[in-house]
Amino acid sequence: MAPLIAPSVLSADFAHLSDDIRMINHSVADWIHLDVMDGVFVPNISFGFPVMTSIASLTEKPLDVHLMIVNPEKFIPQVKALGAHVMNVHYEACTHLHRVVQQIRDAGMEPAVTINPATPVSLLKDIIQDVYMVLVMSVNPGFGGQKFIEHSITKIQELRELIEVTGSKALIEVDGGVNLETGKRLVAAGADVLVAGNAIFANENPTQQILELKSLSR
Ligand code: DX5
Ligand code: ZN
Repeated sequence: MAPLIAPSVLSADFAHLSDDIRMINHSVADWIHLDVMDGVFVPNISFGFPVMTSIASLTEKPLDVHLMIVNPEKFIPQVKALGAHVMNVHYEACTHLHRVVQQIRDAGMEPAVTINPATPVSLLKDIIQDVYMVLVMSVNPGFGGQKFIEHSITKIQELRELIEVTGSKALIEVDGGVNLETGKRLVAAGADVLVAGNAIFANENPTQQILELKSLSR
């Protein structure tokens, strides 16, 4: 099966954002991945709702919103107002994760839970039945263009196993240092959705790169 591809706008050219959104529209990308950073949960600040509203008005792809912020539940109505398909919240940012997942679903979006590199897959045992997707960070969140953490492959295998054992239908998404080489191994390990920033936008032919990522199959 071919993976779903979600280009991360974080690596786009912000001075010509509409060109990059159009490139994604014309590509075989499945979703568009938006990274929100608050300078508190992660040591960087990216963009917020005014920018995402502009992106939402241009994109033809479903929005995959990845919130690297504290108290993400405060923003459920605003993320919904963007027309988002998926709302990703971090396990590490939610004291009452089960409640937040239900609130996202009640708002009419698909809830996804993201885990940082040091957060074990086993901690998802009691939430795996309730989520649409788990996002495994394969770098420490905060920046694009970082080196892929090898242990992520083992985590994808463990997560695939947990999903099978529990009969969950959750998708597995991976984010950070994904390129054709790591992507191939991630898909083989069980990943369903690949997020890629640098690999796409630093390539001289981003559309072709998206097509090649899409061609990786299990
Ligand atoms: C990192 C973000 C990623 C980032 C990935 O904190 O969550 O989505 O854009 O960028 P690359 O693919 O360059 O590692
Ligand atoms: Zn992301």
